[in-house]
Amino acid sequence: MLKVNNIDVFYGNIHALKDVSLEVNEGEIVTLIGANGAGKSTLLKTLSGLLKPKNGDILYLTQSIAGKQAQSIVKSGISHVPEGRRVFANMSVEENLELGAYLRNDRDGIKKDIEYIYELFPRLDERKKQLSGTLSGGEQQMLAMGRALMAKPKLLLMDEPSMGLAPLVVKKIFEIIKTVNEQGTTVLLVEQNANMALSIANRAYVLETGKIVLSGTAKELQESEQVKAAYLGGL
Ligand SMILES: Nc1ncnc2c1ncn2[C@@H]1O[C@H](COP(=O)(O)OP(=O)(O)OP(=O)(O)O)[C@@H](O)[C@H]1O
Ligand SMILES: [Mg+2]
Repeated sequence: MLKVNNIDVFYGNIHALKDVSLEVNEGEIVTLIGANGAGKSTLLKTLSGLLKPKNGDILYLTQSIAGKQAQSIVKSGISHVPEGRRVFANMSVEENLELGAYLRNDRDGIKKDIEYIYELFPRLDERKKQLSGTLSGGEQQMLAMGRALMAKPKLLLMDEPSMGLAPLVVKKIFEIIKTVNEQGTTVLLVEQNANMALSIANRAYVLETGKIVLSGTAKELQESEQVKAAYLGGL
């Protein structure tokens, strides 16, 4: 479904992604783990058209999307749940969900999908009229995910959904990522929480200072001494 071929991404002189290649097959949950500043967000931003690779190519469903406009990438079926959620704080939960469908014009379909999001996240249903800025961190993460799903993505990019959340809330969010995947959405999940990410992923890549240093099945990486020492911290 997605094939990243040898991309280099720069911020001015800073070489943030160095010859990065990875692939995501339809139906998979693939996780990209890495420490602070490794380049995880940079990769997702490049996939969703917010940054342009200097070299290399990105193939999505056999078409090149490297450097395409973000809007056309969303239209082609890739949605990005950004780091730090970025919900529209002064708008209600329901208005945020409606905005997730801004490129669609099938009114009935949009209504049905909002109901589907409320089934997935009953908490959002209870709070649909509430201003999003007053939600808890976990609820905002649910909303950010719901908003991304409103675009009906084939591929969902998630940037550190566990950040700043209590373990029980993280567990809940990860269960929902699994459910969404089982219902047909392919997922590329970026995480510092390697333990949780590897527990739901099929395959994984490890990014260190802009380079992929390791890849394999989630099980292989869970058992790798290198990963245990650097990312699983005795958990
Ligand atoms: N807008 C920017 N301008 C210049 N450098 C940047 C910019 N954004 C990120 N960088 C640099 O690029 C590198 C990769 O950053 P990135 O945000 O992709 O890392 P990350 O793996 O997502 O980290 P974190 O886990 O902290 O979110 C870092 O060295 C960072 O300082
Ligand atoms: Mg990041």
